[in-house]
Amino acid sequence: MSAATPLAMLGGLSAAEFLRDYWQQKPVLIRGAFADFQCPLSPDELAGLACEEGIEARLVEEHGKQGPWQVSHGPFSEATFAALPERDWTLLVQAVDHYVPEVAELLERFAFLPRWRLDDVMISYAPPGGSVGPHVDQYDVFLLQGMGSRHWQLGGRVDDDAPIIPGIDLRILERFEVEAGDDWVLEPGDMLYLPPGWAHHGVSQSDDCLTLSVGFRAPSADEALVSFADFLGDKLPDSLRYADAGMAPPADPGELDAAAVERMRHLILDTLDDPSRLAQWFGRVMTQPKYADQLVANETPTAPEALVAALQQGEELVRTPGSRFAWHALGEGRATLFADGDGAECTPPLARLIASEAALDAEVLAHEGAEVLLAALLDAGSLAWADEFEE
Ligand code: SIN
Ligand code: CO
Repeated sequence: MSAATPLAMLGGLSAAEFLRDYWQQKPVLIRGAFADFQCPLSPDELAGLACEEGIEARLVEEHGKQGPWQVSHGPFSEATFAALPERDWTLLVQAVDHYVPEVAELLERFAFLPRWRLDDVMISYAPPGGSVGPHVDQYDVFLLQGMGSRHWQLGGRVDDDAPIIPGIDLRILERFEVEAGDDWVLEPGDMLYLPPGWAHHGVSQSDDCLTLSVGFRAPSADEALVSFADFLGDKLPDSLRYADAGMAPPADPGELDAAAVERMRHLILDTLDDPSRLAQWFGRVMTQPKYADQLVANETPTAPEALVAALQQGEELVRTPGSRFAWHALGEGRATLFADGDGAECTPPLARLIASEAALDAEVLAHEGAEVLLAALLDAGSLAWADEFEE
């Protein structure tokens, strides 16, 4: 499939058209993006996940006992749900793709975007009137209606400093004006794409409203600078410092003059401007797992020979749900495979294969160095044996 092929899930736009005209720029409503969409889980199953330890879940009650827009955090119990009113609340469960394979499979449909940009699939359930209030998110999101119906209204692009309602745990906009025409009821299979910074408000219109939010990650400049500086810091010699050899005598010894500022600017910018280290840092950051504690390392290291034998006997390796992979070409027949915040050098075809969705069976052994790299990934918890995983 080429980037120019019209995609039904993009309402007939090709990937190239969507990326050129909408991605990160403006919303688009796609009716019937997923034809005959069957939601991969029910409201009860979502509530069940929200009762599990270690799963990030929130409950938003518009008229809570402790005040308006009350937010509580999971895990919840059946008693929590039994005590809720008939309307005006929302249950939100994060990273459902980590727990429900059918939800993870939906992500394969988003292959027109780099996989490492994906963050997670959050799913919300709401009875009639349920919403999280008008707000802005700082990330791109595809809002796919899973079940029931939701009324969406958009309020246009909003500045970072737009006033929010004070004194509550949610960032709800104080002012929300619906832009003409940006007002729709979404039914199952309909999908709304929103770029970052776009005001939106979605209110459940039915007893069984489930909305899937496919969200993307993009580090802020603040996070990126701190994190890259930290990564570089480990590798810089102590002797690389502010230096002023050959300077002119100071006009005033108390002055921090423009030439001094310029020297420091060069030190910082020249140190930061290192494309190969930047690539190594970027791949690690973008593959960092959403929940580091969900990555379970092996206690005893796997011998590469044992891994080879198991693959040759027909066993398969699978990528652990929630594990993140990406690869980067280094030139001269080498590549870095990034997995869950770490990086390892290997051949480009092997890196590409591991970072894809293709099966990892005995055929992978045709690649030079596969057994050592796969054993390391298995020990780190990024891969698992398919049969153990299914148990
Ligand atoms: C929801 O599903 O209720 C809210 C999703 C969002 O607005 O980001
Ligand atoms: Co939102």
